[in-house]
Amino acid sequence: MRLERTSFAKRLGTYADTVKLPAQPVVEGRLLRMVGLTLEAEGLRAAIGSRCVVINDDSHHPVRVEAEVMGFSGTKVFLMPVGSVAGIAPGARVVPLADSGRLPMGMSMLGRVLDGAGRALDGKGGMKAEDWVPMDGPTINPLNRDPISQPLDVGIRSINGLLTVGRGQRLGLFAGTGVGKSVLLGMMTRFTEADIIVVGLIGERGREVKEFIEHILGTEGLKRSVVVASPADDAPLMRLRAAMYCTRIAEYFRDKGKNVLLLMDSLTRFAQAQREIALAIGEPPATKGYPPSVFAKLPKLVERAGNGEAGGGSITAFYTVLSEGDDQQDPIADSARGVLDGHIVLSRRLAEEGHYPAIDIEASISRVMPQVVSPDQMREAQQFKQLWSRLSQSRDLISVGAYVAGGDAETDLAIALQPKLVHFLRQGLNDNVGMQQSREHLASVFAQPKSDTGG
Ligand SMILES: Nc1ncnc2c1ncn2[C@@H]1O[C@H](COP(=O)(O)OP(=O)(O)OP(=O)(O)O)[C@@H](O)[C@H]1O
Ligand SMILES: [Mg+2]
Repeated sequence: MRLERTSFAKRLGTYADTVKLPAQPVVEGRLLRMVGLTLEAEGLRAAIGSRCVVINDDSHHPVRVEAEVMGFSGTKVFLMPVGSVAGIAPGARVVPLADSGRLPMGMSMLGRVLDGAGRALDGKGGMKAEDWVPMDGPTINPLNRDPISQPLDVGIRSINGLLTVGRGQRLGLFAGTGVGKSVLLGMMTRFTEADIIVVGLIGERGREVKEFIEHILGTEGLKRSVVVASPADDAPLMRLRAAMYCTRIAEYFRDKGKNVLLLMDSLTRFAQAQREIALAIGEPPATKGYPPSVFAKLPKLVERAGNGEAGGGSITAFYTVLSEGDDQQDPIADSARGVLDGHIVLSRRLAEEGHYPAIDIEASISRVMPQVVSPDQMREAQQFKQLWSRLSQSRDLISVGAYVAGGDAETDLAIALQPKLVHFLRQGLNDNVGMQQSREHLASVFAQPKSDTGG
């Protein structure tokens, strides 16, 4: 509750904003020591969140490293480096920067792969920035946000039909490792009706970045996308910044009236980067090793997606969340479920059966679906889920032949319709199934009146 109040106050301004204060001179400091990932400086006057440059000009190879102020204690200031700290020595100068940093933006970003600071990773040279924008996006008064009212075609039949996504919705893709999160994100990148797609690859394996871009996204997908990648071996602050940068890019295009699709793989790695930083500067761990600031950062990031002000653009966002088995045990999955407007759960059992996309429709929910589809579709989707649920409940009985036909009318219907249900849910990697086609297919599952198998 306290969190909401502070962020709301930030949006609307507070009394402190109105007070006139004298400007403070720049006061640089000296590096005192480094513990783990944290740099400790003394004599420095810099605010939390501000950027500094750590300069070592004593050595034969002068080194400059960007760092961000993360906290302080008495006269000591704690900083986190953005990159490698090799070459930094005790006594190095720590110079605060006036600007909180600007990021390059522009249409020329399409088709490009960038790192968390906006530098090209794809070897195609620097990109032409049309604008340089501050890291923090504009804040939108929640009362002025356009409500979610339009469905969004994501090209996946089971999602379009049963878990319809709304333009401006924020969804989580929950699954354990290797169940098909990245492949599903890639399919949506290629098929979704969006003006611009922003993909954030945060904290995943470096090998996967190339694989995602070359095989999953493909040249067609990349053409209308901007990819921001920060693999697991980047400094934790770089990974955090990459997540914020891709959100900032999405905001930039949304404010130009575009409908943006933002895909982030993964939100869990973003939370883990924040955990590394928070623990390094001495915040005590709370829930399963995660310090409280992690749970404050999640909604801050996710709240930036969504619809803009009425008549403007939108950001529809998908975040992957790692969760294994009983997800209630994982604090990040639990917290993400609370801040997102829906979750799509992928099931390892389905993936093992070769049932792709392995969406567990019983466990998945799109909270805005009733607002964006017809009552007919809503009813059919519910009926579909009920029948599917019947099938999974009686799965064991059916497989050992212990289920006797006629025992339960709904189970009988589910068994009769099983091939149609499975056919509806499965979809090939390269098949794009539009919204209209998905709806027609869903209606056709129930089109024929129940034929009595006994007669
Ligand atoms: N729709 C699909 N059709 C066929 N095979 C698939 C499909 N989706 C996933 N797979 C198979 O599952 C493997 C793992 O998928 P993917 O890399 O998307 O998983 P992930 O959940 O992103 O894994 P990680 O947690 O390691 O990032 C793929 O390499 C592929 O073999
Ligand atoms: Mg993956």
